[in-house]
Amino acid sequence: MTRNPERSQSSFLFPDGFLWGASTSAYQIEGSPLADGAGWSNWHRFAHTPGLVENGDTGDAACDHYRRFRKDVALMADLGLNAYRFSISWSRVLPSGVGTANPRGLAFYDRLVDALLARGIQPFATLFHWDLPAALEDRGGWTNPDVAGWFAEYSALAFRALDDRVRFWATLNEPWVVTDGGYLHGTLAPGHRSPFEAAIAAHNLLRAHGAAVAAYRARGRHAIGLVVNLEPKHAASKSARDRAAAARADAYMNRQYLDPAFRGRYPKELPAMFGEAWPRPAPDLSDVALPLDFLGINYYTRGVMRDAPEVPLVRAARVRQRGRAHTEMHWEVYPEGLTETLLWVRRRYGDVPLYVTENGAAFADAPASKDLVPDAARVRYLREHLRAAHRAIEAGVDLRGYFVWSLFDNFEWSHGYSKRFGIVHVDYSTQKRTPKRSARFYAEVIRTNGVVLDALSARTRSRPGPSRRRARSRRTGRSSRRR
Ligand code: FCB
Repeated sequence: MTRNPERSQSSFLFPDGFLWGASTSAYQIEGSPLADGAGWSNWHRFAHTPGLVENGDTGDAACDHYRRFRKDVALMADLGLNAYRFSISWSRVLPSGVGTANPRGLAFYDRLVDALLARGIQPFATLFHWDLPAALEDRGGWTNPDVAGWFAEYSALAFRALDDRVRFWATLNEPWVVTDGGYLHGTLAPGHRSPFEAAIAAHNLLRAHGAAVAAYRARGRHAIGLVVNLEPKHAASKSARDRAAAARADAYMNRQYLDPAFRGRYPKELPAMFGEAWPRPAPDLSDVALPLDFLGINYYTRGVMRDAPEVPLVRAARVRQRGRAHTEMHWEVYPEGLTETLLWVRRRYGDVPLYVTENGAAFADAPASKDLVPDAARVRYLREHLRAAHRAIEAGVDLRGYFVWSLFDNFEWSHGYSKRFGIVHVDYSTQKRTPKRSARFYAEVIRTNGVVLDALSARTRSRPGPSRRRARSRRTGRSSRRR
């Protein structure tokens, strides 16, 4: 679609009540993981195991948000955010995963929610953003069928404590990444490498999601949904093999969780892909496909896939696109994929309200001076993706909010602190926060409800950013921890 920037001031206006937010997660920003009676999480354990996280980094201090949350909320208000997506640390509120609650852990989220509401910021709470209580990991974690019940118990506790004020609940964040990174490739906690475990964990994540939704229907008063990461999967060539590879990658990443949650069945490709690792008899999905109030979509990039027999299970690998901009994660900048994804979801799963619950980019931006971080590549990334989101709205998608990943530079899982996704720079030695230029830009988008996206249009096409480094492993396409 071509646009004439002079034509109208309002071609990018977003709908009334649109949520303009930023996302974070507990282990990535809170720090103080064992404070006030919290139990160990699997990520605390993983990060403290030598060799598993770059540079030996851990979430022990992270952004020290646990102690600085009031100032952080003030910063969110300064930026004009009207929503904030955070996650609750299961092991803070239930140190053993089940059983006795830890009131001091719950009190943290209580205070956080109150501080947000006092500033007119809607809390958007994720129940599971990858940090499982270590006590439950010891009992098999996501491979133990009892995990659905444990998760429902924990969720009900969170609903009892916060649903009087929290209007948006997400059950799981990116279950695909949990199984692919945590149970198949071993790059994320718990670091296992087994297609058998990956299939079982996937199914139990879905059951846990269903159990939490059921618990919410019994007592919750607002909205609950699921958050998945999606990427359009394009074939690297017209060959039948590459096209089949793209279809497998799509079934594995995009449909493995959404088909069960919305249609009550697994994609037909999966049993053949998992082979003997696929559970038999076919897993029962009757408690999984419950109506949801919304779907959260995390969008970062697309996958251009080729046939790759050497890659376990999916037998497909990403092909790096020459001449395109890539982020520090080696993810191609591909804004049009966000429009494509939102339209695809509506076509396939119907008119469920959608939120972009994560979108953003890691760039190696350094402060130019004490108070200036000129992250032009991120500004460009956000501008193009916000426009892409708007195009989906124009095409009729019921998109109700957008959350940038992330508010702060933070602990990027197995990459430690080496990848900076924040619109706010964090100096980890002083904990000083410096809003980057992208934060100022985003604040302006929010203030004008999108109108500012009209400006500067011609010069803002994506072009190669500062990261021109070659993908470390172009051949397998596994140039990062996952995806
Ligand atoms: C998503 C995760 C989030 C962060 C971003 C970069 O997959 O949900 O925690 O790691 O990627």
